[in-house]
Amino acid sequence: MKTYQVNQEGFYGDFGGAYIPEILHRCVEELRNAYRKVLADEGFQKEYDALLKDYVGRPSPLYLAQRLSEKYGCKIYLKREDLNHTGAHKINNAIGQVLLARRMGKKRIIAETGAGQHGVATATVCALMGMECVVYMGKTDVERQRVNVERMQMLGARVEAVTSGNMTLKDATNEAIRDWCCHPADTYYVIGSTVGPHPYPDMVARLQSVISKEIKKQLMEHEGRDYPDYLMACVGGGSNAAGTIYHYLDDERVKIILAEAGGKGVETGLSAATIQLGRLGIIHGSKTLVMQDEDGQILEPYSVSAGLDYPGIGPMHANLAAQKRATVLAVNDDEALWAAFELTRLEGIIPALESAHALGALEKVKFQPSDIVVLTVSGRGDKDIDTYLKYKNNPEIF
Ligand SMILES: Cc1ncc(COP(=O)(O)O)c(C=O)c1O
Repeated sequence: MKTYQVNQEGFYGDFGGAYIPEILHRCVEELRNAYRKVLADEGFQKEYDALLKDYVGRPSPLYLAQRLSEKYGCKIYLKREDLNHTGAHKINNAIGQVLLARRMGKKRIIAETGAGQHGVATATVCALMGMECVVYMGKTDVERQRVNVERMQMLGARVEAVTSGNMTLKDATNEAIRDWCCHPADTYYVIGSTVGPHPYPDMVARLQSVISKEIKKQLMEHEGRDYPDYLMACVGGGSNAAGTIYHYLDDERVKIILAEAGGKGVETGLSAATIQLGRLGIIHGSKTLVMQDEDGQILEPYSVSAGLDYPGIGPMHANLAAQKRATVLAVNDDEALWAAFELTRLEGIIPALESAHALGALEKVKFQPSDIVVLTVSGRGDKDIDTYLKYKNNPEIF
């Protein structure tokens, strides 16, 4: 029987594991021993659930998008992670990991961020819990997601602009790992996606699984059945997608569509479509698909969206693609931008650029009128207004 779950060693099929420098062995082992016990602990669950409810505002609504449904000839529900406190799904994971760090006696929190949403979420939880917070962010992203940098600083976090590589998410992650290597004893590294060494991909997926837990209940209320025909989400590292599909992984009635960033097009050399373009390699402690050249040098990814331009992919998703459990579509910049404006005009919802890639995939699927589709809007578009305005009058797109 096919399995899509992680095994004891942290592998999903051929992907995953923990390929880490010697100096981090103790911290990763400590985390591996702690995470399942803590997540299953009644006291932890109570505190986590209460914060998700009263601080984040969960459950996030499952909204039947009537006009979007008419356009695509099926019934489309939007899972509104954009309505969470701080504006994206990232807060579900940040709260869980900072609570875990506190239980492990860690005083200092570090994080990497691309679009800034994970950085803002981590800085927010650190403010709430009175903990020191340092966020690494590529300089390119600091410039294109300026408002989020200012939010993090207002929340009391130190934002370190990273100037190596093409100054985006990969480079920020490298710097965060370097910091962790220098402060292994007192520092907890809050990874923002289902990437990194085991146990991070599994832990982040579990913390985001509240999304599919709610979808089951909400679909039952709306439709009298607890599963859709399609689940759709964008994938950067994979956390909002992991949360969306977690409780449906073994339910083959449900088709899974993942949207990765095609950038200017998968064949142009300016892309972040890792599942289509990647080969087996190791990045940030995990064996997974990696965009690399013939010598194994990691290629610089490109996407208009700061949260999706990562040259790796979560090992869970690499396995789902390899096992053909998920269909992975590349959605290009122009298609995502077009879809963002479409959602805005049809439903009055401005999505994050990342989420717009999931919306851009709607056009690529042949739906039946009876199909029920749940698409996760992972975040809201406030942080992307400058980019949207820049493209608004671009005749190449509209
Ligand atoms: C709103 C939003 N959606 C999606 C992503 C992509 O991350 P993931 O694939 O982990 O959900 C990001 C990353 O920054 C984001 O900010």
